[in-house]
Amino acid sequence: MVDVVRIGLVGCGFMGKAHSLSYRNLEAVHWPKLPRIELTRVADAIESVAREGAERYGWQSAVDDWRSVTRGTDIDLVDIVTPNDLHAEAAIDAAEHGKFVLCEKPLANSLEAAQRMYDAVAKAGVGNQVNFVFRKWPAVVLAKRLIDDGHIGAVTRFRGWYFVEDALDANQPVGWRFDKTRAGSGSIGDIGSHVIDLARYLAGDLSAVLARLETVVPVRPVRGSSKVLRVAVDDAADILLRFASGASGSIQTGWAAAGHRNDIGFEVAGDEGAIRFGWERANELEWYRAGAQDGLSGFQTIVVGPDHPGGDLLWPAAGLGLGYGDAFLISLGDAVNAAAGSAVSAPSFLDGLRVCEVTDAALRSADTGTWISLPARSHTGA
Ligand SMILES: NC(=O)c1ccc[n+]([C@@H]2O[C@H](COP(=O)([O-])OP(=O)(O)OC[C@H]3O[C@@H](n4cnc5c(N)ncnc54)[C@H](O)[C@@H]3O)[C@@H](O)[C@H]2O)c1
Repeated sequence: MVDVVRIGLVGCGFMGKAHSLSYRNLEAVHWPKLPRIELTRVADAIESVAREGAERYGWQSAVDDWRSVTRGTDIDLVDIVTPNDLHAEAAIDAAEHGKFVLCEKPLANSLEAAQRMYDAVAKAGVGNQVNFVFRKWPAVVLAKRLIDDGHIGAVTRFRGWYFVEDALDANQPVGWRFDKTRAGSGSIGDIGSHVIDLARYLAGDLSAVLARLETVVPVRPVRGSSKVLRVAVDDAADILLRFASGASGSIQTGWAAAGHRNDIGFEVAGDEGAIRFGWERANELEWYRAGAQDGLSGFQTIVVGPDHPGGDLLWPAAGLGLGYGDAFLISLGDAVNAAAGSAVSAPSFLDGLRVCEVTDAALRSADTGTWISLPARSHTGA
């Protein structure tokens, strides 16, 4: 294992904040398992944003050209947290310069770009991780363990969703997420990519999808401009799923969903039980075992704590409450560990590519109104 991992961050918006706060605390939280971390450089297209990020979060230098990060000889891990349209160019450049590449989700704004990113890290032989942070969450890792250990029997159904209400106000000016050329898709790629990843993580590879997309608000004002945007991405998506295992299911997404604040969740049903989870009660996992005939059967609630993977990094008792930032502490810790050579990183760019394949198939299905098959895979999870 190396003694120090020197980090460069590309982008300093919402995720720049989430990642920076995590890096500041990683060594202490993962003590003594991680190498020393240096916050070497932050880049943002807006120089003042990079400078403020450096001052606020402790980055040693700030630049407006992301290549000073991807090509920096003083950087080991490049972390890409820009809008989706820069992911491919920056990740490929970082890989070609021998860096470990951590990239926010979705891996790219098109299947073609995601494929190029995967090819680049594979060719360069560099470590890589895509930040599907919800699959790192202790309750979700526990769900996976219960499923893998047979505690709900064979999985028959998966139902996943991600609803937020950020885009409910049609008059609120919008940014890059609503621009198809930058984002690639709407709620299906932005928030839906997380759920597609959870579907694969918990129930295995998908074999076919049938999707319907809806743009609820066709024209929106553009942030920082007097222009309006004719919206070409979805505000909501309904996707039917078939899994390679024979299981079936569905995913729904929507970012104009009244009453839903950050409502990502799933139910996985098996022939001997079921599991359900929702982020708005993120410290709880519900587990049901079928078969009891005593009139007392029902879901039992497991409260996340030190007995659960990731939960052991933080507080000594269950129920004290883990939160959003803690998910990043777990996920980014795994990336630094992998960059130091002590672990294999997951989810990898191959997982990111597989999610982009599903999103792309869903977009094509919505266009044609037909089921779209996905290529058979020889194994799940990657
Ligand atoms: N894992 C998660 O849960 C999660 C949550 C939110 C966003 N994301 C993903 O993180 C990424 C960033 O999202 P965000 O919400 O932080 O966006 P944001 O708009 O808040 O921030 C993006 C930042 O990137 C900068 N930027 C744009 N182009 C750049 C360039 N060419 N070079 C350098 N900097 C550039 C912008 O100036 C801005 O500061 C997206 O891919 C998004 O899908 C992931």
